[in-house]
Amino acid sequence: MSTSRMEEVWDIIIDTSAAADSVETSQELYRQWAPDYDQDNVDVHYNGPKLSALKIAQLFGENKDVLILDAGAGTGLVGKELQNLGFTNLEALDGSQEMLDVANQKGIYKRSMCSLLGPIRLDIDSGYYDCVVCIGSVAANHANAGCLPELIRITKSGGYVFIATREDNVPNSGYDGKSWDDWLKIHEDNGLWKKVEIRRVEDWIADVHGGMMYMYQVM
Ligand SMILES: C[S@@+](CC[C@H](N)C(=O)[O-])C[C@H]1O[C@@H](n2cnc3c(N)ncnc32)[C@H](O)[C@@H]1O
Repeated sequence: MSTSRMEEVWDIIIDTSAAADSVETSQELYRQWAPDYDQDNVDVHYNGPKLSALKIAQLFGENKDVLILDAGAGTGLVGKELQNLGFTNLEALDGSQEMLDVANQKGIYKRSMCSLLGPIRLDIDSGYYDCVVCIGSVAANHANAGCLPELIRITKSGGYVFIATREDNVPNSGYDGKSWDDWLKIHEDNGLWKKVEIRRVEDWIADVHGGMMYMYQVM
């Protein structure tokens, strides 16, 4: 990848969160980025999907039949890593049909749904999934803490919600005047979920941008 393309990709990564002024604007950027998203992320060494899938696999041991929703699935990079680890029962949800169109060509997901994550009810039954994962999709002008009650609702009691994102997205992912971390604790104090682990990883993108992983078990 040329240095100038690398710089362009970084501009896109930053623009989709920081410079976009709304979810609608960032969705427009993903609509345009969809055809190049996979190669660009190979080129910048985006390790988040693989690191996340390895961690998710630890939650389930040999049980590979669990039903997992990849929320904010994009082009399916996380689903692909889960599939490589033997998981077969995968569904996808994303706000961008163009990103899902790329994912749908890969034969990873049994079902894909185009829908926005937020403080709005998803058309999914309560307690439907063994695990809901949301990787790289929590950021400014993306999904924020306002989507957590829905992610919890659609997860079975005893199932897991696994969220991970670049660490500099976390301060911009609060909702309704409270921070991301505030909401994690509010839902724990309200008995909706309990913390399994919060972990920082050094090499979310190449070895220069850290990431945060949040693993919670639904009560
Ligand atoms: C950086 S990409 C991550 C995709 C994939 N999980 C990965 O790690 O490659 C962010 C994705 O989140 C989606 N997204 C952003 N905000 C969203 C929202 N509020 N609801 C649903 N999807 C959203 C975008 O359309 C995009 O596909």
